[in-house]
Amino acid sequence: SAAEVFGSKTSMSGYTYDDLICLPGHINFGVHDVCLGSRFTKKIALRTPIVSSPMDTVTESNMAIAMALEGGIGVIHTNLSIEDQAREVARVKKFKAGFILDPVCVMPTMTLEELDVLKTQLGFTGFPVTENGLMGAKLLGLVTKRDTDFVTDRKTRLSAIMTPAKDLVTINEGCDLLMANEVLQKSKKGKLPIITRSGLLVAMVSRTDIKKNVEFPNATKADLNKSLLVAAAIGTRPNDKDRVRALAAAGVDAIVIDSSQGDSVFQQEMVKWIKSNFEEIQVVAGNVVTKQQAKNLIECGADALRVGMGIGSICTTQEVCACGRAQASAVYNVAKLARMYNVPILADGGISSPGHIVKALSLGAGAAMCGSLLAGTSETPGEYFYSEDGKRLKRYRGMGSIDAMKKGSDDRYFGSNSSIKVAQGVSGTVQDKGSIHRYIPYLTQGIRHGMQDIGAKSVEQLQTMLQEGKLRFELRSAAAQREGGVHGLHSFERKLFD
Ligand code: XMP
Repeated sequence: SAAEVFGSKTSMSGYTYDDLICLPGHINFGVHDVCLGSRFTKKIALRTPIVSSPMDTVTESNMAIAMALEGGIGVIHTNLSIEDQAREVARVKKFKAGFILDPVCVMPTMTLEELDVLKTQLGFTGFPVTENGLMGAKLLGLVTKRDTDFVTDRKTRLSAIMTPAKDLVTINEGCDLLMANEVLQKSKKGKLPIITRSGLLVAMVSRTDIKKNVEFPNATKADLNKSLLVAAAIGTRPNDKDRVRALAAAGVDAIVIDSSQGDSVFQQEMVKWIKSNFEEIQVVAGNVVTKQQAKNLIECGADALRVGMGIGSICTTQEVCACGRAQASAVYNVAKLARMYNVPILADGGISSPGHIVKALSLGAGAAMCGSLLAGTSETPGEYFYSEDGKRLKRYRGMGSIDAMKKGSDDRYFGSNSSIKVAQGVSGTVQDKGSIHRYIPYLTQGIRHGMQDIGAKSVEQLQTMLQEGKLRFELRSAAAQREGGVHGLHSFERKLFD
């Protein structure tokens, strides 16, 4: 059992996810019967136990929207001005499935050549043309493939070929998706601009989006107004209280206090301040890796804890600061303590496969927080680019990397007042993983298979088995770990899902 693995007096070792393997149990249910419902905080339930990290190459509003639609939740990073971060939160809260609230607009003076560049960069083909090329301005027309396909002179200006506003089917603001859908069906058009009475563009509805937008039955939504739930990270700088006020005004549901070492008086004070001033906001504190650190934050009122120190794919904290803990040991020990207080924990970092998520849940985590696993999806901030050997890549960097700290995240590492910035992370690239809407279903299906093999029909059952000592783990030798991976082939190609 886990207690035997982690409680052994003879072994003072810390274990990672890869050191362990779960032993299979008895299956008496189908894989689709496995329920992944779990908790992010005391009061926020998730149908998909996956959270996207507050990192500036992982979570802004697009990611948070996609994560919430898929049943998880995103934490908007804090390397943004207070206004920008609050705006990102507001975008998630205002999101309405099917409506594009900030369509990319173009100017009538733009040439087709310039539009071609934009199309390849962004990957879509229809653009509203507005007076000043911005959203919220007067709608002059629409350019779609049908307007541009057969024009040979790519220097032609859009004003000459666009479908002008007077010939467009539009709909007035205030309509719901059902009405927009009907108009699209009747008009047989691909795009429907939504405008104010005076003709200013406020949103767009696209036929392909509606077709794609089969329901999101797992979405993480507020009970009352059905808005998507979103979290946002803060630090413990003096102006972070203003940040909390702005995030609260934007409708944030949870605040994550971002620190590599959460057991500090600064954080304790911040947890208490938020809890006493914003009763409705859930507070996630951390990071912690020991029971004592966890206890200190739980006693201040934390609604969840983030667990992990120096084990992320981009982390160098353990090398630089000699502090941290192997992640499976950290998750198991902190979860055991937090469970006594009914506080969920998030296993943060070091997750590179659905199997790692199964292990994190098996060790008591409420959800897995992932950076690198989700980096490289189309919803993350940043543009794709190609490597010399033709791979499509995006940047992914630690918040403790010099690049990121220069943008403000040094507070996470208590470095904001020093003249020397000591890196606790690196900056790198990851391969294109496609959309979160394809990737999360792959991950959740993988987790379901894992739980079925173990014989647990729900996360709750899995964790009851853990408590009762019925979940069996074995430690893996280095050879066993090699054996558990692909081996003995000259070369192979790995396709993750189909
Ligand atoms: P993964 O393994 O999912 O880890 O890429 C993401 C988590 O790593 C933490 N993080 C850092 N830790 N130096 C660190 O020591 C860093 O620069 C850094 N940036 C992020 C963070 O907890 C994140 O969720």
